[in-house]
Amino acid sequence: MKHPTGAIALAGNCLGMFKLPEEVAFTIARGAGARIWDTEGREFYDYVMGSGPMALGHAHPRVVAAICEQAARGTHYYHVNERAQQLAERVCRLVPCAESVKFCSDGSEATFYALRLARAFTRRSKIVKFNGAYHGHHDYAKQVLKTGHGVNDHQSIPESAGIPPEISATVVIAPYNDIEGTRRLLAPIATEIAAIIVEPVQRGFMPAPGFLDGLRVLADGIGALLVFDEVVTGFRLALGGGQEMFGVTPDLCALGKILGGGLALAAVAGRRDVLELTIPGRPDDGRSVSMTGTLNGNPLGCAAGLATLDVIEEEGVPAILRDKGLKLGAGLADAANKLSIPFLTIGAPAFQQVVFGEGPVDNAEAHSRTNLTAARRFGIELVRRGVLVVPGSKLYMSIAHDDSTHGAFLDAATNAMRAIRDQGLLN
Ligand SMILES: Cc1ncc(COP(=O)(O)O)c(C=O)c1O
Repeated sequence: MKHPTGAIALAGNCLGMFKLPEEVAFTIARGAGARIWDTEGREFYDYVMGSGPMALGHAHPRVVAAICEQAARGTHYYHVNERAQQLAERVCRLVPCAESVKFCSDGSEATFYALRLARAFTRRSKIVKFNGAYHGHHDYAKQVLKTGHGVNDHQSIPESAGIPPEISATVVIAPYNDIEGTRRLLAPIATEIAAIIVEPVQRGFMPAPGFLDGLRVLADGIGALLVFDEVVTGFRLALGGGQEMFGVTPDLCALGKILGGGLALAAVAGRRDVLELTIPGRPDDGRSVSMTGTLNGNPLGCAAGLATLDVIEEEGVPAILRDKGLKLGAGLADAANKLSIPFLTIGAPAFQQVVFGEGPVDNAEAHSRTNLTAARRFGIELVRRGVLVVPGSKLYMSIAHDDSTHGAFLDAATNAMRAIRDQGLLN
């Protein structure tokens, strides 16, 4: 779509940081189940699934019906509404840490508010995140490791222009899957730490045995809150997310993606005494937290989320996604093996990532030593062959992905592997 001057009106013709190269770029017109179609009528198998929310597939009839029913009753009120109350109750029933819930609009807001809550609750200012983690787009999340500074290696710098450098002084970067290293790093600044935030499965890295338990003990020991970023893992690894699967209960968690069933909805859930800092008009003890937004608890998003969670509970979706993921991973490993290509899949089967190289790959440093160029090019070659992926990133699936979808993916993957080998990217 062009601006009257002839320029593309949509900045960069993309929606965020995901932009396919011109050679394979296309525009989506519609989606159904595991497939999408572009504006020229070409069909793609979708392994992006809206970057995760669409665990039931595109346009699932139960979700569409719930959205239409709610839309006819009003799409937004701002005031507390029954769908928001019902979804909050559902989250409290399913998610182990959830004594109380507060809604916002996207996963980034959820991690942002969880950290603000932790700072207010503890009256401290620093947060600890792990190297290579992704917690969204806000200024505290967009901090990366400042390298080459010896003992100060845990220091962060902004990953984007426009972030005040002062923010970096409040964010400490720790080594994921290294509990001893994390303990050592935090010891001198223990009384300044408000929160340790971690993805229970960080991108494609499963937590080492004892790592999450170790963080629980560490946070308790220094009087900080433990925050799980369950934006990806929530309702996907298990009904109760990573905290259920790994048996470690955080103080707070950030939820998003599946929670809103494909609409803009997210939440902070966790300890009642922490979340109640947001209650308007509470006695002023210097810890009251402002957490507000025009679309918080939007009834349309809550209706889509409730319908999605109904199906997830009824059909046992986490186990289904896991099994589908295991099948896909085995097929990919087999294809690579036949071509003698060093290859592995990492992460949870339900959102695995392909790696060209040798294992083990259990943190960002190990991942950076694998062939990232090949992984990215492999993704582009898949798109060229009718499979939508974010090149070099996670593969998301839905219950609509079946053997025929996987079969098409594996055919495309075999040819994409041949293509990147022929391009000399595996030498
Ligand atoms: C682990 C994690 N946390 C937070 C976010 C941010 O969520 P959103 O994109 O909805 O703001 C994402 C997004 O991909 C994520 O993967």
